[in-house]
Amino acid sequence: MPALPWYHCTSIYQIYPRSFYDGNQDGIGDIQGIIQKLDYIKDLGLETIWCSPFFASPQADFGYDISNYTDISPEYGALDDALQLIAAVHQRGLKIVFDMVMNHTSSEHPWFKESRSSRNNPKADWYLWKDPRSSPGRRGSRSTPEATGGQVPNNWQSVTGGSGWHYAPERDQFYWASFLPFQPDLNYRNPVVKKTMFDIVRFWLAKGVDGFRLDIFNYIYKDAAFRNNPFTFDLIPTEANPSGFFQKAQYTLNQPENFDFARELRGVCAEFCEKLLLGEVSGNHSVIRQFMGAEKNDGLTQVFDFGMMDFKFSASYFRDLIQDIEKHFPAPFMPVYVFSNHDRARSISRLDGDIRKAKLLHLLQLTLRGVPCMYYGEEIGMTNLRLPFATALDPIPHKFQSIPRFVFDMLGMTMNRDEVRTPMQWNGGKNAGFSPAGKTWLPVHPNYKAVNVEKESRDANSLLNTLRSILKIRKEQAALREGNLIWMDNLPGGILGYKRQTDKDEITVVLNFTEKKSEFQLAEEGLQSLFQLSGEDSFNAGRLKLNGLSGMILRMVNK
Ligand code: GLC
Ligand code: CA
Repeated sequence: MPALPWYHCTSIYQIYPRSFYDGNQDGIGDIQGIIQKLDYIKDLGLETIWCSPFFASPQADFGYDISNYTDISPEYGALDDALQLIAAVHQRGLKIVFDMVMNHTSSEHPWFKESRSSRNNPKADWYLWKDPRSSPGRRGSRSTPEATGGQVPNNWQSVTGGSGWHYAPERDQFYWASFLPFQPDLNYRNPVVKKTMFDIVRFWLAKGVDGFRLDIFNYIYKDAAFRNNPFTFDLIPTEANPSGFFQKAQYTLNQPENFDFARELRGVCAEFCEKLLLGEVSGNHSVIRQFMGAEKNDGLTQVFDFGMMDFKFSASYFRDLIQDIEKHFPAPFMPVYVFSNHDRARSISRLDGDIRKAKLLHLLQLTLRGVPCMYYGEEIGMTNLRLPFATALDPIPHKFQSIPRFVFDMLGMTMNRDEVRTPMQWNGGKNAGFSPAGKTWLPVHPNYKAVNVEKESRDANSLLNTLRSILKIRKEQAALREGNLIWMDNLPGGILGYKRQTDKDEITVVLNFTEKKSEFQLAEEGLQSLFQLSGEDSFNAGRLKLNGLSGMILRMVNK
């Protein structure tokens, strides 16, 4: 069995820099803060760090609106700090990937300011500009209102709902923004734009970053002819089906050119050594697989599947999920298992705060065939903090203030992303040890005295120490990182079991998703228990006893 490339057997820790650790006491997390906490990540056992953006930005979407791709926003530090971070990560044998927002810039980016200033400036064609529909080519009107429907160039809707066309009187034209109005989409059909963005990628690769997480990567190309999107009965977009608001997103995402673009970007990375390219994409498994390549893995090295963020905590849900993933991402492709990030509800909040369930979920995540990706605070069981829409710093909830909150609650949607971005809970001291400042940029979750790194480090049974142990085993057992996945059939209901196999090693994982104890015989001989979630689990002469919501890792001796 050939050794896998590093990016297919790593494990990822996502840092939201603003909330991780405040190095200079102003209430906002920063790059020096991250550097101070690298030993914590190393000790936890996760190997690749993904930092949400800290590039120059007006911070209207907290860094996902970039105004200079090769500089750092002053509240996080300076270019030197970023270089120091890369070096400090590498010194510890870890890897680091940056967050590259290629689809759009900030409307404050000098490129956009120039582009919107007239129809014939050198950057006039850097963004997607279209004439108003009612009177094409019309000049001179300064009074056209902001997009209200009638005059917008076509029927396309933005990701966040409503038309994504926004009027600029300077040009008497509309520009397209897939996300929010202050995030205009770049025009990748302009070769100069593509080259400029690839050069920015090269800039950071030359500085030593190990790859990128790619923001809304599947929106990069829009239909060249700007055809109207067709009607659909879908109202609420889901992860597997991003169409919604009665519109099929046929011409606004997942365009064929976008799959070619993934391969081109891989080519840019190949000028350096092997880099990780992790795409934020949406659609069902066969759609998102296309970003990785048809037969060879010559596109993005991996993609997120956000469908699993809406997981149901049951053996049958995960069996179906994993089987579908194994079908669509067979070797040499590699899936990613992710349950939380800076845009969605924290996983523990979807598990009723039950630590036993969190342990089982992560035992699954860290032993499947795939790259696990964890969000800061997930390892200690940080929960969402309910915050009002009206005072949100996140721009999204302000769009939906007129809709009663219970509607989103019923749909299980976290519209106010501040709720999942509260400061990391390091200890039970002031501001949870995140910052000694008087005020932190978002409030600290009041549960910090019970849920924090320091406290959990002292408790052998904590979620944190459980994850440390599993990650240690993952590092020691090549089969867990590189092995095939083989299903175990005929297990009792509510029990999930699989084997991970290489030529030399074999690991068995058995997980009890029910609250009840379970006892059954394993047919194979020569198994030995390596790890168990509950002190009451046992394995003797092939007979396995598992507590409710418990799980075990076993190893085949002398394979
Ligand atoms: C992605 C990011 C999100 C951001 C959006 C626009 O979905 O994860 O935080 O707001 O793109 O860049
Ligand atoms: Ca700071």
